[in-house]
Amino acid sequence: MKNYTKNSITVLLLNVLFFTALMGNESLQVYTRETVSLSGNWNIIVDPYENGFYNYRWEPFDQMENPWLSAFFMDARMQTSTDLIEYNFDKAETLFVPGDWNTQDPRFYYYEGSIWYRKKFDAPGKKETDKVYLYFGAVNYRADVYLNGVKLGVHIGGFTPFHFEISDLLKTNNNSLVLKVDNKRSKEGVPTLNTDWWNYGGITRDVKLVVLPEVFIRDYSIKLESAENKKVSGSILLENCSEGQEIVFSVPELKIKLKLNAAQNGKANFSFTAKNLDLWSPDNPKLYEINIIAGEDNLSDLVGFRTISVKGKQLLLNDKPIFLKGISIHEEFAAEGGGRVNEKRKAEQLLDWALELGCNFVRLAHYPHNEDMIRLADNKGILVWSEIPVYWTIDWTNRETFANARNQLTENILRDRNRASVIIWSVSNETPVRPDRTSFLTKLVEHVHSLDDTRLVSTAMEKHYKKDDPSVAVVEDPLAEIVDIVSYNQYIGWYDGLPAKCDTTEWEIAYEKPVFISEFGGGAKYGYHGDADTRWTEEFQEDLYIRNLEMLDKIDGLCGMSPWILVDFRSPRRPLAEIQEDFNRKGLLSEKGEKKKAYFILQKYYNDKK
Ligand code: GCU
Repeated sequence: MKNYTKNSITVLLLNVLFFTALMGNESLQVYTRETVSLSGNWNIIVDPYENGFYNYRWEPFDQMENPWLSAFFMDARMQTSTDLIEYNFDKAETLFVPGDWNTQDPRFYYYEGSIWYRKKFDAPGKKETDKVYLYFGAVNYRADVYLNGVKLGVHIGGFTPFHFEISDLLKTNNNSLVLKVDNKRSKEGVPTLNTDWWNYGGITRDVKLVVLPEVFIRDYSIKLESAENKKVSGSILLENCSEGQEIVFSVPELKIKLKLNAAQNGKANFSFTAKNLDLWSPDNPKLYEINIIAGEDNLSDLVGFRTISVKGKQLLLNDKPIFLKGISIHEEFAAEGGGRVNEKRKAEQLLDWALELGCNFVRLAHYPHNEDMIRLADNKGILVWSEIPVYWTIDWTNRETFANARNQLTENILRDRNRASVIIWSVSNETPVRPDRTSFLTKLVEHVHSLDDTRLVSTAMEKHYKKDDPSVAVVEDPLAEIVDIVSYNQYIGWYDGLPAKCDTTEWEIAYEKPVFISEFGGGAKYGYHGDADTRWTEEFQEDLYIRNLEMLDKIDGLCGMSPWILVDFRSPRRPLAEIQEDFNRKGLLSEKGEKKKAYFILQKYYNDKK
């Protein structure tokens, strides 16, 4: 069953040159650069049997010595009337990018499998020596990426950016970019098989082309060393530069201008003190424009300067105690029927709802959100808990699973480490207390510290009760010893007894660290009213909040909370007819943004909180 064509020889040559594209973790600082967007309608082919990826012997076409043109990434056409090509992207249907496929077409609502995406584009204008990078904001969950029939590489993880250098593969016109996107869940995945959120598949964030000069600024980092002495330090990393390459770093508003020289590895460190530095905070989200010039490359960015630290049971922002008036948020905007946030205005609406609630903090659950969320949080003065989807029952002994989790953590930190709003990196949510899990997560905590020594590390743990006194709730988890704040989820009143149980529960958190309640809450269907003893009424949820807040407020060292959750969100775990209908109803807002009675209880608690 061979269907060689004369093109196969070309394909053979290209694949012999199998192109291992340079896929780094750095974000290339794409957000503030000039880019060419590849957003819009992409042709797609739904491929539940992976027919465009494997031959009939289940051998991957892109690993075959003589790949057949029936491989979808070849984007082939019939050349003669007798050619046998059983697909045609030009005549195929389309999906919009960025966006999940589940809410673009009812046929794909529950779809878990592969969908092929194809985009034709012309090469952007560039000088001979310029480099061209192809950047993806995120693709859920696995992306196999091909350009003009050549495999660029694979990315695994649905919520972090990645890129490939494509300079040498580009044609002047009519380039064929093909992705196989596969959102199937797997035991070894991160997240794994079971989650309480919708498994939105697709190219869910922006795709961009970035043209960079031969010597360019690959990355930079910057931090305020101390709020008191206002000393700032950082480093700049150049690509393709020679030793001694001059770099000019400036903060015009502070009248700072430093001339630096890159070391052999392209790196240059810097520091300065600015006594007149205006510190960033929720009350004053001051951002400064920074500029970096190296050769022909010129990068500008907006940066806030602040410190976050703990002192005993106190959480300190710029050396002053702060209480985190938070709320948890999923990256979903279903108010217009959609799914994953795919436009800046939707991200802004979620954060504005949080601000209206009285929040100065958001827990972006349970995975890295899009970069707009973080940039908007910088602008609006909202502190951020950022986490990776190491959720519930991860395959703790699987080395690939660990490498995947660590890579997602790396990509998340390298994208957002210059954002003042991000104060906490979290490595997991509600994981079981057992040796293999604690070893897995301890290594992730160490990895965070190796990348960023300026922020706090935490993880959403679970609570237990004292063995000899079930009215005393405790946190007994070896992870609590190594994180900076003791964070845990507790559901007294919903999963654990009824709301009245709050009245008779004491808390003993035996760690000399700040205590953060990363989740509590209960469900209510907006507009369903009854007495407080009727589950799913707004009154039940309201009573649950009143009693939980009274109970939690007594905890010694309480530094904040992020109740679960701002907005009702889709989950395949929530089918209850007439009430849930695929939505988790623990939102303080319905998916349309309608305020439930409990919303006002939390809003009052925050407004009264000094
Ligand atoms: C858990 C989990 C959330 C989930 C919530 C719930 O704590 O962290 O992801 O949605 O409980 O059951 O509603």
